[in-house]
Amino acid sequence: MNKTVLAAIIVVIAMLGFTYVAVGSAGGMGGDGDWVNKLAVLGAVVLVIITAFVVTKYVRQMQSDTASGKLADENWDGIGEYKNELPLGWAVIFLGSVVWAIWYFLAGYPVNAYSQIGEYNEEVAAHDAKFDAQFANMDESTLNAMGESVFIVQCAPCHGLQADGMGGKAADLHQRLAEKSVKYVIMNGGNNNLLGTSMPMPDRNGLMNANTNALITDAEIDAVAKYVAGGLKGTEGASVFAGTCAACHGPDGKGMEMVAPNIAEMSPSMVDMVLHHGKKGAIGQMPAFTNLTAVQYKALDAYVASLSKK
Ligand code: HEC
Ligand code: HEC
Repeated sequence: MNKTVLAAIIVVIAMLGFTYVAVGSAGGMGGDGDWVNKLAVLGAVVLVIITAFVVTKYVRQMQSDTASGKLADENWDGIGEYKNELPLGWAVIFLGSVVWAIWYFLAGYPVNAYSQIGEYNEEVAAHDAKFDAQFANMDESTLNAMGESVFIVQCAPCHGLQADGMGGKAADLHQRLAEKSVKYVIMNGGNNNLLGTSMPMPDRNGLMNANTNALITDAEIDAVAKYVAGGLKGTEGASVFAGTCAACHGPDGKGMEMVAPNIAEMSPSMVDMVLHHGKKGAIGQMPAFTNLTAVQYKALDAYVASLSKK
């Protein structure tokens, strides 16, 4: 027998032996293994035999082959190149890979098949739904208690445990608006989605252009800012408010749907808008919160709105 064939047979027997040892009886060539294991072992045996067959064929060919075909014109220091046709199989595999890659990119695994991230997201969503259902009907004190506990975790790092804004690092939530916040909005305008849609508050120039009666001087701005920050009480600034602001914010400052938000008091819906969209103002940037559950938003809205009433 040819030495190569003999070597191949020895390799096949060795590999089959290793396979059997590796898979062992658990691999289930016995009766208790499952069919997936059996199929895998069968596949391994077939692969080993085919590999040995192909390798043997080419090793023998290399031993006896002589070069044939037409030489290309170029040669490099005497080393030439035969003009052989591209094997059909290679061309088919290449084109097939291109087609498969396009399919894989557009319709395959990454976009619409199972993924661990998808499974995780579904589990989180299912848990959130269960949590929300469990606490769907809370009385007011439970709602506030939940709001407070979420606040301590999510909001206290910036607003402080007392919700006082920690010396100006974030908004003091015991009042609707600080004087400098009102001033900032008048000078710069604002677009924080406080109405749920992008409806901007005009800046100082915008206010003047919209209504020529509303010439706002620095003194008027100071007065109206004090008036709004003070909860719309007293007389100083009241006339400016009535003349310039009431058209949108209402005579009592409680706002109008789709026109301007409530600036007289901290309402749950206002807090909800700030939570969903974040807020940029005189103090800085409050980030939007996107990972709370519906019940947690509701609890925070109620808790924060209740702070300013104490
Ligand atoms: C043309 C209508 C309009 C007029 C006039 C107007 N506002 Fe506004 N204002 C808005 C809108 C709309 C918003 C919400 C902007 C946003 O979503 O950030 C707003 C927001 C605000 C805010 C921000 C509230 C917050 O929570 O940060 C303050 C303060 C305010 N206005 C004060 C005033 C004062 C004071 C005047 C008068 C000098 C005035 N506005 C005149 C439409 C108006
Ligand atoms: C990274 C710091 C940070 C965190 C965390 C944070 N905030 Fe804020 N928040 C701010 C800042 C800064 C402002 C003031 C924005 C401005 O007007 O300049 C603000 C403003 C607000 C306002 C608006 C007050 C007003 O009348 O203008 C509310 C309501 C609010 N935060 C609630 C919350 C709640 C509830 C949480 C927790 C879920 C929270 N914030 C978490 C920084 C933060």
